Amino acid sequence: MTHRFLVTGAAGFIGSHLSETLIRSGHEVTGVDNFDPFYARDVKERNLAGLRTLPGFRFVEADVARDPMPLDGVEAVIHLAAKAGVRPSLEDPGAYMDANVTATARLIDAVRRAGLTRIVFGSSSSVYGNATPAPFAEDQPAVLPISPYAASKRAGELLAHAFAHLYPLKIICLRFFTVYGPRQRPDLAIHKFTDLIARGRPVQMHGDGSSERDYTYITDCLDGILAALDWTAAAAPGTVETVNLGGGERVRLDRLIALIARALGQDARIEHHPDQPGDVRLTDADLVHAGRVLGFKPRVGIEEGIRKFVDWYEEVHGRQSRASRRAG
Ligand SMILES: NC(=O)c1ccc[n+]([C@@H]2O[C@H](COP(=O)([O-])OP(=O)(O)OC[C@H]3O[C@@H](n4cnc5c(N)ncnc54)[C@H](O)[C@@H]3O)[C@@H](O)[C@H]2O)c1
Repeated sequence: MTHRFLVTGAAGFIGSHLSETLIRSGHEVTGVDNFDPFYARDVKERNLAGLRTLPGFRFVEADVARDPMPLDGVEAVIHLAAKAGVRPSLEDPGAYMDANVTATARLIDAVRRAGLTRIVFGSSSSVYGNATPAPFAEDQPAVLPISPYAASKRAGELLAHAFAHLYPLKIICLRFFTVYGPRQRPDLAIHKFTDLIARGRPVQMHGDGSSERDYTYITDCLDGILAALDWTAAAAPGTVETVNLGGGERVRLDRLIALIARALGQDARIEHHPDQPGDVRLTDADLVHAGRVLGFKPRVGIEEGIRKFVDWYEEVHGRQSRASRRAG
């Protein structure tokens, strides 16, 4: 059966992939995005280019924090619009609260006023902070965030709890663990490092390389979101659920850089820098609950995922000789 879904943040990395996947599965999508200047509009327009040609996709340029949402005919909402990124949230915390907290409150309120019930909310592993024992399980308190971004995502989850208590909503908060793949946000480490190594430029490594992240390949993340949408169809009214979506492996920063360099056939030149304030030392998803609630199991390991990412990068940027990269 064909449904129409509202995807907020549809011009972004995850939102554009999700919109395509939904349409290819026979559904229709209304995509909303305000082209937040966190990264270039051109990049987001490229993310949308294929989508705009697909029948069933409708795009509305709007700000979730202040504009009315196009909820006509919508069956469920996947709320991915946000100011993403930990470090920039230290520069402009107020804007993060606006885009991530006020927008989430307004959106959930609009959904319930429209008589809709199903919401998937894109949360983040950053809510676990530095004080949660690994692997991070959803029943840990997650009350000690260490950046405004993390606090804003936890606030979004708490709003979900409040609204599901007040109204017959079915909301699932997905804690994404560093998602990567084609079109990954240019500010994220894998994309940034690939770009630097490909151009023969030094990579700024913060810390001694021993920090670890759980990386999730985009197709695994999409499988988790689709399963979460199914959860919202079946859940009882007034229910909220929180689920980790991770890649199932802890990858050290120095190993990540080595994997990227190997996939590019280059050497990585590393510049050492101190730890970045606001960055957590470790992320590590406990996926037991995700398996139980969503049947979620990541399929793409880090080596395969990095090879796929680098293939995409080289397709977009062209494969240059090492000498011309260094010159460029
Ligand atoms: N990519 C990751 O590794 C990761 C990890 C954890 C959580 N998340 C969360 O997943 C979601 C998607 O992340 P992404 O990597 O695709 O980021 P992204 O920046 O590529 O996409 C987010 C989109 O939201 C839009 N947006 C921002 N504020 C808006 C507003 N007020 N109104 C309308 N649109 C707005 C932006 O223009 C952008 O296109 C975000 O909520 C992010 O916080 C992502």
